[in-house]
Amino acid sequence: MGIQFEKVGFAYRDFKKSYEALKDITMHVAEEGEFIAIVGHTGSGKSTLVQHMNALLLPTTGTLNVFGQTLPPKKKEKINHLRQKVGLVFQFPEYQLFEETIIKDIMFGPKNFKINDVKARENSEYAAKIVGISEDLYEQSPFRISGGQMRRVAVAGILAMQPKILVLDEPTRGLDPKGKKDLMQVFIDLHHRENKSIILISHDMDIVSKYAKRVIVLDKGSIVFDGKKEDLFTHPNFSSFHLELPTSLKILKHLEKTLGIPYEPKYDYDSLLTYLKEVKR
Ligand SMILES: Nc1ncnc2c1ncn2[C@@H]1O[C@H](COP(=O)(O)OP(=O)(O)O)[C@@H](O)[C@H]1O
Ligand SMILES: [Mg+2]
Repeated sequence: MGIQFEKVGFAYRDFKKSYEALKDITMHVAEEGEFIAIVGHTGSGKSTLVQHMNALLLPTTGTLNVFGQTLPPKKKEKINHLRQKVGLVFQFPEYQLFEETIIKDIMFGPKNFKINDVKARENSEYAAKIVGISEDLYEQSPFRISGGQMRRVAVAGILAMQPKILVLDEPTRGLDPKGKKDLMQVFIDLHHRENKSIILISHDMDIVSKYAKRVIVLDKGSIVFDGKKEDLFTHPNFSSFHLELPTSLKILKHLEKTLGIPYEPKYDYDSLLTYLKEVKR
């Protein structure tokens, strides 16, 4: 089932004007097993696109199907439950923390979806464990921990709702290198352990290259590429996407040109090193 977009268009409207932020979007996200990166310039429509996936925004034209629910909904159809099925972690989610203790903040989501207290607590403790928030922090204020930890608490709040699909809008933005790596490890572990579909908006091509299986490139509200990561970087129109190559591929291209080392794509630092050791032998 998952999520299916059919010719979706979306326009932001205010009193005077209307701005078409998405145009003719058709694509499918499988319920399980996906690791999709959504990339594109600032303003290309990435955040607008993902806010359709849990019905925060509804299409202006075309339709969307999210776990069997057609959007826009018919009159009287309730769509709130989609926020639980598709967990969306906003940019800088720590700005939305507000409870007096960390555990209460994590439990807010599940309780809001009428999950009983015992189960909500159980899910929240599980989520806290996944993101690496230890028990001794539960009763502390979420405002007295580091920025990186605050972000983890916010992510745990979404995970505690046990969403089927996890959508992350620039989850590592503003974190230091270690914070980035640790948080990405949380998501990749979740993906491997539960085969959960993950959709990740990122500007960081090294992260995209290392973690994503599939990449969607947006340009001015339209999808200009949707396919395997391996096919993106060798795409004949790659330069027209205005994306950087990941560092490992840049290095490999350079080594081929300057030292004649055969180019073989490697998508992250560790596999690049392993390859170079092999070549040396
Ligand atoms: N609330 C809004 N009202 C009007 N225009 C908006 C609003 N949010 C975003 N936009 C416009 O829609 C376009 C797409 O925005 P967005 O989806 O946030 O892009 P991205 O996440 O790729 O940076 C941009 O041109 C942006 O200015
Ligand atoms: Mg955005």
